[in-house]
Amino acid sequence: MPRAENICKSFSDKIVLNNFTHDFKEGKITALVGQSGCGKTTLLSVLMGLIPADSGTLIGFDKPISAVFQEDRLCENLTVSANIRLVTGKRFTKSEIEKELCAVGLKDCPEKPVRELSGGMKRRAAIVRALLAESEILFLDEPFKGLDADTKETVLEYVRTKVKGKTVIFVTHDMEECDTFADETVALTQLS
Ligand SMILES: Nc1ncnc2c1ncn2[C@@H]1O[C@H](COP(=O)(O)OP(=O)(O)OP(=O)(O)O)[C@@H](O)[C@H]1O
Ligand SMILES: [Mg+2]
Repeated sequence: MPRAENICKSFSDKIVLNNFTHDFKEGKITALVGQSGCGKTTLLSVLMGLIPADSGTLIGFDKPISAVFQEDRLCENLTVSANIRLVTGKRFTKSEIEKELCAVGLKDCPEKPVRELSGGMKRRAAIVRALLAESEILFLDEPFKGLDADTKETVLEYVRTKVKGKTVIFVTHDMEECDTFADETVALTQLS
C-alpha cells in the first residue's frame, strides 16, 4: 500500500506540507481536497518524485506512474495521436487510439494539432494520454476541470472503467466527484 509518512515541504519560509501522513489504498481512488493554495499540487509533485520533500518518507511509490497535470502539458504542435504515441510507443494501433478518443467525444481530433483544440478538448486528450500510458499509480490534478456536465459524465465513466485496479490519487474542488468517483477523500488544510 503506498504510504506517505511525515512529509514536510516549504518554499522559503512558507510551510506547505507539515507532517502529511497517509496510507493510500492500493487499487482504489483517493480524492485530495482543500482550498486553493493549500498544497494539493505540491503534494502530488512530491508523491510523483518530481520535487523532493524536505523530510519524510515515501513507501510504495516507486512504481510506473502517469499523470494528468493541473495544466495539460501536451505538446501543442503535435497531433493528439502523436501526443499519445509519445507515451504509448507502438502498444496501440492508430485505430485503437482513435477508438479511445472517440469514447471521450474526440472523434474528429486524432490528427489535429493540439493547438487547434478547445480547452475542454485538450483536457480530454491529456486524460486519454495518461490512461493509455502503462502505469500502476495514476495522479490526476483537477482532471475534469472545464468540462460541461454531459461531457464530464461521459469522461467520468470512461475514466472509471479504465482505472480499474490502479491506484488513483486525484485532486478536486468538487465534492460530488468525491462522492461519486472516489473511494476515499482526504482533506488537506491550509497551513500558513
Ligand atoms: N515552486 C514554488 N515556489 C514557491 N512557492 C510555491 C511553489 N509551488 C507552489 N508554491 C506555493 O505553495 C502553496 C501551495 O501551492 P499548490 O500549487 O500546491 O496549491 P494547490 O492546493 O494545488 O492550489 P490550487 O487549488 O489553486 O491548484 C502556494 O502558496 C504556492 O504559492
Ligand atoms: Mg493545484
